[in-house]
Amino acid sequence: MKNKKKGLEKNLSDYGDKDFSNFIRRSFAKSMGYSNKSLDKPIVGICYTESGYNNCHRNFPEMLEAVKRGVHASGALPIVFPVISLGETFLNPTSMMYRNLMSMCVEEMILAQPMDSVILMGGCDKTVPALLMGAFSANIPSCLLVSGPMMTGRHKGERLGACTDCRRFWAKYRSNEIDKNEINLIEDKLATTSGTCAIMGTASTMAIIADVLGIMVPNTSSIPAVHSDRLRASEDTGILAANLGLNKGILPEKIVTKKSIENALRVLLAISGSTNAIIHLTAIARRIGINISLEEFNRISEETPVIVNLKPVGEGYMEDFNASGGLNSVLLELKNKLHLDTIDITGQTLKQRLKKINNSYIDRKIIFSKSKPVNKKGGLIALFGSLAPEGAILKRAAASKKLFEHKGRAVVFSSLNDLAKRIDDPNLDVKKDDILVLQNAGPSSNSGMPEAGYLPIPKKLAKKGIKDMIRISDARMSGSAFGTIILHVTPESNKLGPLAVVQNGDYIKLSVKNNSLNLLISEKEMKNRMSKISKNKKVVYERGYKSLYQKNVLPATLGCDFNFLQNKKIK
Ligand code: FES
Repeated sequence: MKNKKKGLEKNLSDYGDKDFSNFIRRSFAKSMGYSNKSLDKPIVGICYTESGYNNCHRNFPEMLEAVKRGVHASGALPIVFPVISLGETFLNPTSMMYRNLMSMCVEEMILAQPMDSVILMGGCDKTVPALLMGAFSANIPSCLLVSGPMMTGRHKGERLGACTDCRRFWAKYRSNEIDKNEINLIEDKLATTSGTCAIMGTASTMAIIADVLGIMVPNTSSIPAVHSDRLRASEDTGILAANLGLNKGILPEKIVTKKSIENALRVLLAISGSTNAIIHLTAIARRIGINISLEEFNRISEETPVIVNLKPVGEGYMEDFNASGGLNSVLLELKNKLHLDTIDITGQTLKQRLKKINNSYIDRKIIFSKSKPVNKKGGLIALFGSLAPEGAILKRAAASKKLFEHKGRAVVFSSLNDLAKRIDDPNLDVKKDDILVLQNAGPSSNSGMPEAGYLPIPKKLAKKGIKDMIRISDARMSGSAFGTIILHVTPESNKLGPLAVVQNGDYIKLSVKNNSLNLLISEKEMKNRMSKISKNKKVVYERGYKSLYQKNVLPATLGCDFNFLQNKKIK
């Protein structure tokens, strides 16, 4: 080969003799049946996350065949390699805790093995950010391919989709509106096809964000998992990645810029995307050396309308979004507010992408026009105040407007265990206007920042028909959840943030108008309480990855990444 650094000759194992390293590698590759003709081609690595513990990637074998078809047709050699997979509901304590581990695995395997470009196959919530974080740190030409969303199921004539409807029906079961028999029937109907959750949850949000950033075949983020279009997108991804490998393709650092990140934030707000996406996008941006400020986020939120009407906030499902043109329709509506000179993995600018769109149909019940939006302001906002000095997040699009300006009495749970023990206690001192507070569920807690911020309404209130209350925590919330839920409070309780000193009966004030969240105690009292809490919170995990995680995880406002993985430009 003319170019010594192409294909199989990249990243040679070190035996102190490069020619020998090359000879032994080719010899071992030939044990897999490869010919010289194949081994002399550029290599497209396929970072593969199929797993028996990941239902969302069930369609990967068929997609993989299509990807390989595209790579072969374009004159490159596809080589599949596994990395760990994160199936959202199969991991303890949380998939979030393993996102950084997966990103390290992705980065190291891309850098250690010979490949000229890489296809990242993922979909379930944490897999997409982990793949992007790893590949962006490795900084080789990369192309994401997602599994695509599930189709909806049916129950008694009603459409059901994981997992907003999981929560909706579970709440009905808790309040005795439906019985055990019915909830068992619903269990069979919520997730009926392969693919990621059927609503605008974290997986769909992250796929769309990656599409806006320009790191996938344009407008393939929302194609349902079971559509033949998904297979055509897979073949196109193979072709694109092969061309990236053959022609010294564009590096992620050229695509992911301050402007493309701002475009992604704007789309996140316009689609009322998942709160988790802020954490992930922050972590992704910081791998490239770009900081996201929550103050800037609020500025963009104030001037960005919500134009997508999907569950968990609205009505439709991802299959409806795709049928309405998908992300391209959203980009057209937001055109005047986007940076149009960003480029995507195909080399085209956003302006060029928008010019090519030929969308004859938009269902205006699903994607609204910017002149008649679902909401005039963005779906998410950051809050600051004495309870969250460094910030907290509220999905205002999913919150009850009557609670936007609210002062209430705190009912405090000191941990997830405490919550589980007392939330349904008939003697719990709680009223409908109170504010539920959960402590010690942040990134460095031993629960690893679970999606527990959606605290259940206490059973005694749920039975009276109470559907929403303000709930505050340093935890996260599933992208499929809804309610007046304040999350990611930073600093977290485990890091001695003010959340740690909230007591039962304290008053808390939320003001969406002022972007504020305050604990209504005097400064003197705050200082007094803060001085009494332990300066040395015990690290629970003493060995292995969990210990590494607990010691190194950054706050939610910095993306929950590890300090030592961030781009050096950020430090
Ligand atoms: Fe995988 Fe929801 S469980 S996307």
